Amino acid sequence: MNTNTPSEAAIEAAVQAALRAWPPDPTHTLQVLRETQERLGWLPEAALARVAASLGVSIATVRGVVAFYSFLYAEPMGEYRVLFSDNVTDRMRGSEDRLREVCQKLWVEPGKVSEDGLVSVDRTSSIGMCDHAPSLLVNGRPVGDVDARRAEEICDLILARTPLDQWPREFFAVEDLVRRSDVLLDDPLRPGEAVRSALERAETAGSGPQAVLDEIKSARLLGRGGAGFTTGVKWESCGRQPVTPRVVVCNADEGEPGTFKDRLLLGRRADLVLEGMTVAAYAIGATQGFIYLRGEYRHLLDHLLATIERRRRDGLLGSSICGRAGFDFEVRIHVGAGSYVCGEASALVESLEGRRGIPRNRPPRLAEKGYLQRPTIVNNVESYCAAALIVRHGAEWFRASGTERSCGTKLLSVSGDCERPGIYEYPFGVTVRQVLDDAGARDTIAVQVGGPSGVCIGQDEFDRRIGFEDIETGGSFMVFDSSRDLFEVARHFAHFFAHESCGFCTPCRVGTSLLRNLMDKIRDGKGSQHDLVTIEELGRLLRRASHCGLGESASRPLLDTLARFRPAYERRLESSAVEPAFDLDGALARARRMTGRDDAGAHIGEGP
Ligand SMILES: Cc1cc2nc3c(=O)[nH]c(=O)nc-3n(C[C@H](O)[C@H](O)[C@H](O)COP(=O)(O)O)c2cc1C
Ligand code: SF4
Repeated sequence: MNTNTPSEAAIEAAVQAALRAWPPDPTHTLQVLRETQERLGWLPEAALARVAASLGVSIATVRGVVAFYSFLYAEPMGEYRVLFSDNVTDRMRGSEDRLREVCQKLWVEPGKVSEDGLVSVDRTSSIGMCDHAPSLLVNGRPVGDVDARRAEEICDLILARTPLDQWPREFFAVEDLVRRSDVLLDDPLRPGEAVRSALERAETAGSGPQAVLDEIKSARLLGRGGAGFTTGVKWESCGRQPVTPRVVVCNADEGEPGTFKDRLLLGRRADLVLEGMTVAAYAIGATQGFIYLRGEYRHLLDHLLATIERRRRDGLLGSSICGRAGFDFEVRIHVGAGSYVCGEASALVESLEGRRGIPRNRPPRLAEKGYLQRPTIVNNVESYCAAALIVRHGAEWFRASGTERSCGTKLLSVSGDCERPGIYEYPFGVTVRQVLDDAGARDTIAVQVGGPSGVCIGQDEFDRRIGFEDIETGGSFMVFDSSRDLFEVARHFAHFFAHESCGFCTPCRVGTSLLRNLMDKIRDGKGSQHDLVTIEELGRLLRRASHCGLGESASRPLLDTLARFRPAYERRLESSAVEPAFDLDGALARARRMTGRDDAGAHIGEGP
């Protein structure tokens, strides 16, 4: 029997402690729940009721928040909570074998809690450690390079009930593998330098913050989160809104499977990130800032808080920054709780407000009405770093690397089948082939650039270039050699999207599940040619009718692999139909037409 049910006194103490860090306000719902859970291990109903009453929100709202985030638990969990990272690159390095071994040794089934309440083991979407695959989280702390031996050691430590702070330190040491650095990673910028440069530019030009905006625009900086929106234009449009206060948000959700470059920047270059945010605050006249840190990076929280505190002491945050009266800017950190869609800018803002991360309708744009209806900019971690350096060294310096349309450099997170996984910084325009050579990739048949929502390219496209004129990417670069089955890779991504769909809109909620089911059916040898047609039709429908970028891109890995690696699909169809007694697909064609299923896209599109 599980004995992990906390007493009333323990619940009260946990909620009160969370409320000391997060004053009672509905926007703090997620943070209060998260911190309460950190103390209790899970969230009993009595804790939810206590949080609801303290924050003045309904119990239904609180339950809805808990149900939405996969790292919030309304059921008892093990004292030790082991979550295996479940990206395709983890699986390629044996994560499923390790999961089986751990479950066997600890006498627990995946997704369940052991009888004695000691441990629960489960899978979770990529935890941003693909350079150290397979990896896992134990009570939120990352452990990389989990080979059979390390898995066994982890089991022993758990069985001996060893407190986490007595585990070997090297288990939790996340080594950043920087394989190639360039102007961004090499820059020795000291705290305050970019902020002072911004003030100097404003003074010299005599145009105030507009001088900073002009420099960012002239640098032609495009957002590094993937979509490539022009940063200067976004900032300017926000700064022009008549409403104050304005808000600067750093998107540190880094949920795209295969990326881990923001982990490096937040861990090693936290000052540079904050420098960029502070420059942005000056440029748009913002006083409030947030870093939205993905739950999987909770281990970076103390370091980031310490950096913020130091900068406050040094007059680089808080009031009168750099002694300039009226230049006030505070930054808080909100920690996410295991939801990929919260990386989408408007979903992120919903989450910042303490709610479920459902993407908003647009218009209005966030620049007009974002956090609490205030003008808000949301930028990627790397974008803020680039902005800080632009202000320090000038637009011309920035434009000197990269290509005409894609200025500057890009950090790539390289993982999968290569000798040297890690972070590579290149000027935009580098070919895929060059990256593969540098990473020691051999016998490569495909690369998934930009994560599951990016593009899967085959050998004949390795001369294509990273950049907004050709292959856009937030930074994920997963390599597959000839031992890999691209159908299985795509099937894995279909599961990922079905799992991460927030369920708000029908095309995505239903479509991603149908795609996952179709891929499983084909895997089971029960697929037909018609299923391949349905996948293509569903894919088109999802792109057209989804409410946000998740649904729009959910079919991409399937459509890409169907277009480039069709034999990987057809092989399964052939092996399924050993010698069919009759043409099942053909026989069903008429029924499909009668029920409208031959036009699967339009049919589903007409749903509520
Ligand atoms: C499902 C989904 C997940 C996303 N995840 C992230 C993320 O983890 N980090 C990020 O910077 N942008 C992410 N984005 C893009 C953001 O919506 C937004 O475009 C970006 O933060 C803007 O910053 P940038 O202009 O500096 O790139 C995501 C978009 C979608 C649709
Ligand atoms: S497209 Fe998917 S993730 Fe986006 S709002 Fe619709 S259901 Fe949610």
